[in-house]
Order: sequence, then C-alpha cells, then structure tokens
Amino acid sequence: MSAWAEDHSRRLLDPLGRRWRHARAVADTAHQLAVGLTPADADVLVAAAYLHDIGYAPELAITGFHPLDGARHLRGLGYERLAGLVAHHTQGRHEAELRGLQEALAEFDDEDSLVSAALAYCDLTTGPSGERMTPEQRLLDVEARYGEDSPVTKGLRAAWPDLMHSVGQVAELRTHPTEFVVAQPR
Ligand SMILES: [Fe+2]
Repeated sequence: MSAWAEDHSRRLLDPLGRRWRHARAVADTAHQLAVGLTPADADVLVAAAYLHDIGYAPELAITGFHPLDGARHLRGLGYERLAGLVAHHTQGRHEAELRGLQEALAEFDDEDSLVSAALAYCDLTTGPSGERMTPEQRLLDVEARYGEDSPVTKGLRAAWPDLMHSVGQVAELRTHPTEFVVAQPR
C-alpha cells in the first residue's frame, strides 16, 4: 500500500513543489518509526504520511479544508483506514470546528492509536519544505505563515496539549521500539 501511496501522492503534490518535499520527508520519518510497529501498521503509517496533505492538490480541494478533501478522495478509492487517518491527522478536528466542518469530519473514524500519534509526530517534526524542526518551531512557523488569527494556527494551538501527548508517546517508541510492540494492545 505504501508504494501506491508514494506514487499517488507524488502525482498529486509534485506540481505543488514544496508540499511534495514535505510529504516525502514526513514519510522518511515514518519509515524510521515503522521498526516499532507491526508490519501492517508500519505500512499504513508510511502510506498515510505520504498522503496526509493530498487535499491541497487543486483537483481535490473542494471544501478548502485539506484533511477533509483528502479523506473524501481516499474513501472514494476504498481506502477507509487511510481516509480516517488523513481526516484526523495532527488533530484536525479543532480546525474543523473553527471552519464549521466538524460534522463532515466526524463522518470519518478517528482511530486515536499509536499510528495516528506517530503520524502527528512525523508531521510536527517536518517543516513545510521537508526540513527537520522541533514541534515548537513548527507551531511558530505555522503562525508566521498563516497569521495568529487563522483557523490553521488557532486549530493547532487548541490541539497542542493532545499533540504533545502524542509526541511524548512516540519519542518513547523511538527509544524502546521493541517494548512498544509488546505493550500495544491489538
Ligand atoms: Fe496537513
């Protein structure tokens, strides 16, 4: 699945330049985390990393809220788990509320798992052109690009406590990958 996801994302995002560089770098981090996951979860994580921002592609941008647009596209292709991960990536429900799209987003399952935490970690440690960043630098970068009153910035700030929980969980995974595979209920 991740090979298809890489091709599909490249086709949609490569014309946008740095969105594709961001997606590829998020997927690189996902590959590093995959060692601590089951093979099925690792494949889904890498696929979701490639695909999480495809909703920015002009041909998919219907509502203008990229997690929802990307998720609807993936649902249409039959990738329901990926659609849920993309819909809710990096705690998008806060921004959805600010945009009045919370009910539309709630049509997708939020699996709230180690995989979704890992996806948030990968996204928050990767800058807009694929550069490495700390989550705090990423928040400041979003604020600088979108403005402090933007729903993007406000949504990210509202999500911050949950996101920091995810980042801590995944930092632990990176330190003790084998223990995590054993500890995770399936
Ligand atoms: Fe995104």
